[in-house]
Amino acid sequence: MNTQTLEVDKGVDNDYSYQQTVDCLRNGGLVAFPTETVYGLGALATDPDATKQIFEAKGRPSDNPLIVHIGTKEEVNTYAAEIPETAHKLMDAFWPGPLTLIFNEKPGVIAENVTVGRGTVGLRMPDHPVALKLLRLLGGPLAAPSANRSGKPSPTKASHVARDLDGRIPFILDGGATGVGVESTVIDMTSTPPAILRPGGITVEMIESVIGPVRSETRVEESEAPRAPGMKYKHYSPDAPVWLIEPDQNQIERAVQHLMNEGKKVAIIGPDELKTDKPAWYFATGAHADPSQLAAHLYDALRNCDETDADVILAVETPSEGMGIAVMNRLKKAADGKQFTDYTIESSNMKTD
Ligand code: TXA
Ligand code: MG
Repeated sequence: MNTQTLEVDKGVDNDYSYQQTVDCLRNGGLVAFPTETVYGLGALATDPDATKQIFEAKGRPSDNPLIVHIGTKEEVNTYAAEIPETAHKLMDAFWPGPLTLIFNEKPGVIAENVTVGRGTVGLRMPDHPVALKLLRLLGGPLAAPSANRSGKPSPTKASHVARDLDGRIPFILDGGATGVGVESTVIDMTSTPPAILRPGGITVEMIESVIGPVRSETRVEESEAPRAPGMKYKHYSPDAPVWLIEPDQNQIERAVQHLMNEGKKVAIIGPDELKTDKPAWYFATGAHADPSQLAAHLYDALRNCDETDADVILAVETPSEGMGIAVMNRLKKAADGKQFTDYTIESSNMKTD
């Protein structure tokens, strides 16, 4: 299959590009498109043959449900069976925007492979002009996970999508770099109180300021935290192993020296302030005090590491507050929980063996 990338942010031939992609979706095909968080890989959510192809193109496990994107708030009534008052408040406050609400579904509307037979459906109205235009022209719901190969960092640029899915999908709508950079917050509105299953672009504080206390994994033991089914899989992984490191200049320089002594090439993802020329590569992600800048640049930086021949990636931690919670959640997954202090212990143990 030939993959065509259609630029829609430059005002050239936009109508024809939208027409081609809407026709493709109506005929059961796949289209990657930008949202304010990351690029999504869309298929008509009511067509099981279309949505099946999403799992195939991504290599996604079939037990991981897909988010359904809608172009208007009113469509919630078509897909959700019960809409609690708190959900109305959240939709009014944050839609369109990076918040996915899980509802009990109206049976028989959304394809079963999208909800994977859980009886619930995740709905979100994205805040991106290209996504909204596509949805409104289509006049139907789009099931769309992030448009990366399963396990890889989510795409924040059309070139990231092409890198992972070239030859596997017919169209990529290129609307430039996305804004938020990490995926939407997923909140389960079927439980009391509502439970945050995945931290994201809308913070716990923002949600609680509208509906009061919610369950959040930041306040309960990891093991008993409710989770989105997708969170158990390997995620956000570049080719080289990632280790987390504290935002401390001395510690970073010692770590780089230690790794270089072992003959390893090092790439660092870290804030502007800590940039040093000690490692072979340093990908700067903005001001340390502003985790939303790291959110916007994290996946691009992880993918940039794949373009190097680094043996080890060090990722500098950010404070776990506000957007920092979502960013640290992704970084911990990319690193599989590994801290550089463990690395030094492990490798010094190896030497004494
Ligand atoms: O920002 C985003 O949310 C992006 C853009 C494209 O909208 N989409 C995205 O989709 O991140 P995906 O498939 O990569 O992640 C969806 C997450 C998964 O963890 C999945 O398990 C969870 O949402 N999810 C979807 N439907 C669910 C449901 N009915 N119940 C529980 N979790 C659900
Ligand atoms: Mg994803």
